[in-house]
Amino acid sequence: MVKELVRSVERLARSERESAWREMAKQIAHEIKNPLTPMKLSVQHLIRSWNDNKENFDENLEKVTHTLIEQIDNLSFIASEFSNFAKMPKAFNEEINILDTIRNTLNLFANTENVDFVFEHESEEILVFADKEQLSRVFINLLKNAIQSIPENRHGKIGISLVLNGKMVRTSITDNGKGIPEDLQGKLFTPSFTTKSSGMGLGLSIVKNIIESFGGYITFKTKVNHGTTFIFELPVYVKAMVDGTGR
Ligand SMILES: Nc1ncnc2c1ncn2[C@@H]1O[C@H](COP(=O)(O)OP(=O)(O)O)[C@@H](O)[C@H]1O
Ligand SMILES: [Mg+2]
Repeated sequence: MVKELVRSVERLARSERESAWREMAKQIAHEIKNPLTPMKLSVQHLIRSWNDNKENFDENLEKVTHTLIEQIDNLSFIASEFSNFAKMPKAFNEEINILDTIRNTLNLFANTENVDFVFEHESEEILVFADKEQLSRVFINLLKNAIQSIPENRHGKIGISLVLNGKMVRTSITDNGKGIPEDLQGKLFTPSFTTKSSGMGLGLSIVKNIIESFGGYITFKTKVNHGTTFIFELPVYVKAMVDGTGR
């Protein structure tokens, strides 16, 4: 009976994942289709103004090409975000010192204007079993959100702390940004939810998927106008448990 129960829980998890995927694919298709009609209309308009020998053709040409290029860049961004997301199941997990990933990501953001980063950690080596690229995507997304949360007139302070919590390693990323109002808190991890004019709303849902695929979980604490802390835990990788040699 227990086995049967486990199997049906697994089936349920799988069907939930599949329907989340379908929902996601629908939203992406919608995002891609959105600008296509206006793009087509503006090209048709341009052709007409060429055929009619309109005097402001030059001006029109410039305007239309500018918009088209902007839209094309946008579409290509959506496509690459989605393919990053779609790549997820093909994770190549290996033992990684999570401190290395954090340091590499911090290097990437080191030149961010008006923001200071502080990294605090208990030890020099904490191993997790994860896909390197995906783990770094987690940090990139969370740091980018933290940076973007800081109001223009405020000096940004972003702290990363690593602590061991039993068999888990806990990472906290704290910003002194604008915080998250209560009515939005339940929506953060939903694909496509964004409050940014140029946001895709995929970052946190990708992050959550990745962390859960490594056997971890993510949560957050926030206070409006004071800042937000994203906290996630990953299982610490213990060599002896895996290869059985106790090395
Ligand atoms: N550190 C943070 N501080 C304040 N709000 C945040 C933070 N991180 C995420 N959010 C909120 O969650 C939303 C979704 O984030 P995300 O999934 O990364 O998408 P995006 O960054 O493209 O908007 C953001 O638009 C923002 O409203
Ligand atoms: Mg984001």
